[in-house]
Amino acid sequence: MLLSKEQKHTIAEQQHTRTEQQVLDAMVLSKDQQHTIAEQQHTLSEQQHATKRSTEQQVMLDAELQLWNHTFGYVKSMALKAALDLGIPDAIHQHGGSATLPQIVTRVTLHPSKTSCLRRLMRVLTLTGVFGVQHHDGGNGDELVYRLTPASRLLVGGSSGQQNLSPFLTLMLGPLFVSSFLDLRGWFQHETPDPSPFKMTHGRDIWELAAHDAAGFGRLFNAGMVADSDFIMDVVVRECGAVFRGIRGSLVDVAGGLGGAGQTIARAFPHLECTVMDLPNVVAGAPADTTVKYVAGDMFESVPSADAVFLKWIMHDWGDADCVKILKNCKKAIPAEGGKVIILDIVVGAGSSSSDRNVETQCLFDLFIMFINGAERDEREWKKIIFEAGFRSYNIIPVLGIRSIIEVYP
Ligand SMILES: C[S@@+](CC[C@H](N)C(=O)[O-])C[C@H]1O[C@@H](n2cnc3c(N)ncnc32)[C@H](O)[C@@H]1O
Repeated sequence: MLLSKEQKHTIAEQQHTRTEQQVLDAMVLSKDQQHTIAEQQHTLSEQQHATKRSTEQQVMLDAELQLWNHTFGYVKSMALKAALDLGIPDAIHQHGGSATLPQIVTRVTLHPSKTSCLRRLMRVLTLTGVFGVQHHDGGNGDELVYRLTPASRLLVGGSSGQQNLSPFLTLMLGPLFVSSFLDLRGWFQHETPDPSPFKMTHGRDIWELAAHDAAGFGRLFNAGMVADSDFIMDVVVRECGAVFRGIRGSLVDVAGGLGGAGQTIARAFPHLECTVMDLPNVVAGAPADTTVKYVAGDMFESVPSADAVFLKWIMHDWGDADCVKILKNCKKAIPAEGGKVIILDIVVGAGSSSSDRNVETQCLFDLFIMFINGAERDEREWKKIIFEAGFRSYNIIPVLGIRSIIEVYP
């Protein structure tokens, strides 16, 4: 059947009207249905609000957690100090590397009323990885057995080649250092550079105090440095042997303290004639039973001549101008051909660990060393002082954990 154009148009219009009507019919809802939909919409919007509120709330609670965790960071430090002071790592070590609380208590001096407090101390130290812990059914029910971890194995022993970092950490956690940080605001309000936070707090700079209280603070300081040297110089000798093997005949360890580093170098590279130079009060306490020669002096005046100068943990004690003075004196002490300066210090941003804590710890150390007006430097900052002192090239070897060796050439 053939339809005219008008007929087709009329039919199309009728179909469209029918469809619209069907939609409208479907939309006519009962009162109950309308109510249910309104209720559902209300609930949905409440849920959305609640989700938004709880996300905002969680962000705030997480922020509070972050501040609390940061604020109580010093409790971690003090827990480690307490463990060292009480001799807990040694107590576990003497027990074969793992011990229950009653077994630890037999080897540390502790009032019996404090045993439950010791459990709480150990809980923090296991949470932070200083010690490990596991449950053990020892017949008397479930017991906790504490064990040494790689970290606490560095806190025990000290003889027969065992490295013990306890004297170094005890120095770092001691009241003379910690109290220097209690009024940083006061220090920030003083003109740079003097006095340092240490001097503001104790009335003397660190080297003056070490000389003044040689038997107390001086001894503690030097022992801390020897402990650090015993640990890190072993790695230096193994990882950076080539740095020392090429030296012609002599090396001077400038500001080398009691010679922990100098002695390790002398043992590992017997072809080298090693000299340790430090302030007179330090050299006065030097050991006699060593092939290393000790010389008293002031590195700001001059440095003894040698084929190489070694500077371990010296530059970071000083501001840029003082570093340039020391480096210039080192340059005068070595031959222009074949001589070199070997620096062991932090290069911020470099290091052999991929852990996030590498740079964080380097920056913590930088803020820490500000307490004597020192600084940790990144490569750009090192380059500046090295070139300002007249040296022509340098080479960074980042193989010592958070620290590096920097070879500096005239
Ligand atoms: C951080 S300690 C490092 C000691 C040693 N290099 C080590 O790493 O074990 C700094 C050393 O610099 C020495 N020192 C400070 N001022 C000095 C100066 N003007 N001349 C020579 N040594 C100095 C101190 O006596 C101390 O032994």
